[in-house]
Amino acid sequence: MATPRGEFSSRFGFLMAASGSAVGLGNIWGFPTNAASNGGAAFLFVYLLLAFALAYPALMAELIIGRNARANGITALRSIASGRKSRIAASLVGFSGIVTVSLILSFYAIVSGWMIAHFLDAVARMLEMQKVADWLTTDESTRNSIFVVLFMTMTVFIITAGVRNGIEKWASRLMPSLIAILILLIIYVITLPGAADGLRAYLVPDFSRITDPALLVDAMGQAFFSLSLGVGTMLIYGSYISKDENLPVTGSLVALLDIGIAVIAGLLILPAMYAALASGVEIFDLDGNLIAGPGLIVSVLPALFSTMGGIGLFVAFAFFLLMTIASLTSSISMLEVPVAYGVEHHGFKRKWAALGIGIVITIISLIIVFNFDPLFDMVVTFTTEVSQPLLGFAFCIFVAWIWRRNDILQEIKQGCPDVENGLFWKIWPFYVKFICPVAILTVYFQ
Ligand code: PHE
Repeated sequence: MATPRGEFSSRFGFLMAASGSAVGLGNIWGFPTNAASNGGAAFLFVYLLLAFALAYPALMAELIIGRNARANGITALRSIASGRKSRIAASLVGFSGIVTVSLILSFYAIVSGWMIAHFLDAVARMLEMQKVADWLTTDESTRNSIFVVLFMTMTVFIITAGVRNGIEKWASRLMPSLIAILILLIIYVITLPGAADGLRAYLVPDFSRITDPALLVDAMGQAFFSLSLGVGTMLIYGSYISKDENLPVTGSLVALLDIGIAVIAGLLILPAMYAALASGVEIFDLDGNLIAGPGLIVSVLPALFSTMGGIGLFVAFAFFLLMTIASLTSSISMLEVPVAYGVEHHGFKRKWAALGIGIVITIISLIIVFNFDPLFDMVVTFTTEVSQPLLGFAFCIFVAWIWRRNDILQEIKQGCPDVENGLFWKIWPFYVKFICPVAILTVYFQ
């Protein structure tokens, strides 16, 4: 079973892969709409605070556990456990992470499928294939199933090629394109009539909301989902980082990229929504809240694009390409979690593990597609609001309470020999030991 393990070839490769995992649908539509409906810059402020104070330490915990063990989540957690009970707990947490991330992928694939369908819709309209375009934008089970299968096929294809030739190669191509498209779109959208109102809604803080518990819960959930925490994705990517790499610095770059792109995405989505309002598109729901979630991406924004005439086709093309790229660099990190386990623990060939697990997840996705109303929201809520924070909590407990402090230090010292004298080592252990677990539980029980 001694398959050689993959390793990222450079810091750039790791940064693209890890920020690719982090930057996804959560950043580009979750964050901006959460911000707009929770007091604009007040949410931004709380989010930044929570992201740096809670999510970054939790991210570091996963990266360190992963790189130390150079193994999949279950083996990695078991390797730091000290007795029989903690080994059982390790298997349980690792296994729950695998199940949770597979379920996240099963709903993520559905939404990503919509993105591809809307992207192809722009292409079809450029080619004046109106019938095809209409089919592509009609929300029904056959279309959704076809695009789930297509998206999962792309994900499996990349994972089959391994860490360097699959994950790293594709993330290094796709992430720079994502940033370029995002910036071009912002430049265009910000010039539209009404866009300034969107900027105002986003950047002028309504501090009366800051004590609202719902805002805290939203901001923390957003930060954990956005940094792909609790389910072993960052652990597995950490396990492919070279021992020469400075972990605290690399981890903070990932957090900065993720948070930065979420904040920048706000400069696109909110001005776009208010530009849509200015051209007569309804952007508020019956309760007077901004339309968020699927409705925003698949109805409000397309309605805006269609008011722009010819150029709207190109804007739609670029926007849905952006969303597809963001989804794909996240979905590969999700599939890698169970695949690495299958390869390392059961000795499966990577190709067969990726294909087999990919098929199982696709089947779960299809079950959700055909039972959308009862299942979709349930799976989203269970995985992102229940399972992810609890698992994030468990990771902190493992690192701070079960793992020996000196062993952690020795691990970080590889690639960062002076860590003991720096700020990181003064603050981080205390944070993961006390602040993170208490904060996660407090917010959780809200
Ligand atoms: N971070 C991704 C996003 O923002 C989602 C994700 C969650 C990816 C969990 C991997 C694991 O969309």
